[in-house]
Amino acid sequence: MNEPALDAGRQVIITALGETPLEAVDAHSVLVPMEPPDTGSLAPHDVVVAVRSAAVGWVDLLMTSGQYQHLPVPPYTPGMEYAGVIAWKGPQVGAELAVGDEVFVDPFLAGPRSLGEYRRWGGFASYAVAPAHAVRHVPTGLSLDQACNLLGSYETAHHCLVGRGRVRAGETVLIHGASGAIGLAAVQVCKLLGATVIATGRSPEKLARVAAEGADHVVCVQDEDGAARSFRDEVKALTGGRGVDVVYDAVGGDISLESLRCVTFGARFLVVGWASTPFVARGRGQRGAPNANVLPTNLIMMKGIDVLGCPTAIATAHDPAIREPRLAQVLAWAESGKIRPCVSRVYALDDYREAMRARWRGEVTGGCVLRIL
Ligand SMILES: NC(=O)c1ccc[n+]([C@@H]2O[C@H](COP(=O)([O-])OP(=O)(O)OC[C@H]3O[C@@H](n4cnc5c(N)ncnc54)[C@H](OP(=O)(O)O)[C@@H]3O)[C@@H](O)[C@H]2O)c1
Repeated sequence: MNEPALDAGRQVIITALGETPLEAVDAHSVLVPMEPPDTGSLAPHDVVVAVRSAAVGWVDLLMTSGQYQHLPVPPYTPGMEYAGVIAWKGPQVGAELAVGDEVFVDPFLAGPRSLGEYRRWGGFASYAVAPAHAVRHVPTGLSLDQACNLLGSYETAHHCLVGRGRVRAGETVLIHGASGAIGLAAVQVCKLLGATVIATGRSPEKLARVAAEGADHVVCVQDEDGAARSFRDEVKALTGGRGVDVVYDAVGGDISLESLRCVTFGARFLVVGWASTPFVARGRGQRGAPNANVLPTNLIMMKGIDVLGCPTAIATAHDPAIREPRLAQVLAWAESGKIRPCVSRVYALDDYREAMRARWRGEVTGGCVLRIL
């Protein structure tokens, strides 16, 4: 029997796209009361999730200024990835999902990163609605905080390293942005693949955590005064002068350029993201790429480098067949305890602005979570 008696809740709303994510957070975001979903108007295959944990991701921030490829339409509720408890289910939802079950929701099928009618239900809210096929039980041993940091990060790591990079046991992978959500996932996935990891970052404290998560070597790319520090010689020395086989570049800018000088001949360069140069597109959802990163063709040519673009979601839209095996592998790794999302920051919903700022400023190691209750 479904007798919903859902209490009123609260939700964050982005009222307009900002010039930058921080401007959107400061000037165009509000935390407002939320009526529970009207279950009488929902589809028979729908599920209402009482959200407990929502990931605060880099992409959530980028979406608030319309500088991400997937453009949200304000007003909307952010929170691509979330986890919680089933509060109501429609009459056509099978017995495998029950009221009270702990679940997480597939960000490609519901929430602001999805297309269609479920994109308005983001995780920075007391309730979200998703179709049953997007709702999954939390893998054994994962907390709700970890579950909402699973698919985006690990599917990205899998797509880049396995799908595009074809990383093999015994190879050496240079991971930039290793302390970030998708960076730490890449460290764990590389180790599962049998690769040696050289991880870079700007802070010794965060790099200590990266090492604890499995990186074989860590290299700081910033000195104590905050100035950029060359890493080419150190990376070369760590590979016996040979250079790395693969670069997983989530940082962009000058880091990308120097990386091309510490690879072996025939290396693969994975273009994963550009956290150091996020304003490639104009703000407020204006499109175009006036500030795009540029790579030198002379180095690419002379070193025989394969430069591989690695857009996890877009690639799936072009070839839906790649999703099922990728998702199955990530879920199997999670279920068997081989991967564990690292969550270093937890904020109350009231502090959503501070959580978003911390993520944008690069203060977070791995996952950042908003607790909704
Ligand atoms: N290919 C895909 O499908 C895909 C999917 C998701 C995300 N991405 C992209 O990948 C990038 C990283 O995403 P993420 O979720 O891992 O973000 P994140 O958790 O915020 O991590 C980014 C990391 O980059 C490093 N960084 C270097 N320079 C930075 C700067 N100037 N400002 C902020 N951080 C800087 C930081 O590490 P240190 O402080 O240790 O240096 C930080 O931990 C973003 O560009 C994102 O759009 C791509």
